[in-house]
Amino acid sequence: MILLSKPILIGITGGTGSGKSTVAKSIFESLPEKNITIIEQDSYYKDQSHLTFEERICTNYDHPLAFDTDLLLAHLKDLLNFLPIHKPKYNFSIHTREKETILVHPRDIIILEGIMILEDERLRDLMDIKIFVDTDADVRIVRRIKRDIHERNRTLDSVIEQYFNTVRPAHLQFIEPYKRYADVIIPEGGYNKVAIDIMVAKVRSIIYEKQNGKELKIL
Ligand code: CTP
Repeated sequence: MILLSKPILIGITGGTGSGKSTVAKSIFESLPEKNITIIEQDSYYKDQSHLTFEERICTNYDHPLAFDTDLLLAHLKDLLNFLPIHKPKYNFSIHTREKETILVHPRDIIILEGIMILEDERLRDLMDIKIFVDTDADVRIVRRIKRDIHERNRTLDSVIEQYFNTVRPAHLQFIEPYKRYADVIIPEGGYNKVAIDIMVAKVRSIIYEKQNGKELKIL
């Protein structure tokens, strides 16, 4: 059941392996009404089906231009107008989109998570809350090695090479400076229960505010 006249958009960013998706899931789990949808910026990596696999592995996936930001923006605007979208389905093993899409229904709360969601001013302007998940680089790279080998069909050598060639430089050039746009910086992501509780309380206060036209004191 839709309760608000306009959905709430929460942006969650941070480096690779920082725990963005865990924070998104924790907020989802903590809101019992489950009137919430999670959109991953990763789903909006550009379609590369016109390229060969060898060409696709040479793409720099840690650059703002790797994303189809216009499509992401159009889809977010649709969701914010309570319209359904057909979200692209991205396959990390073949480095491109799959043919089928995923139907996403509108909800009162939308969480957008990804490494570069704060790059584009048009996206930033749509967000009610901007969260930066701040996790040490050693923790992030260990998580990434495990995930990329087990879930993304990569070798240890390829993960390490990619990390030094593009992932680490992009973190320093783009992602770390996104902190300046964040409303909240959460240390140690999804395992920081206090931070999750505070975020959930803030979401509840925005819901209350939007429903009643006034602010709820949460602290
Ligand atoms: N990437 C890749 N190959 C592709 C597309 C993307 O290796 N074909 C990598 C990029 O190098 C980028 C990373 O995917 O660094 C972005 O995903 P990441 O933020 O690591 O995933 P999440 O699960 O969203 O992160 P978290 O662990 O914070 O939840």
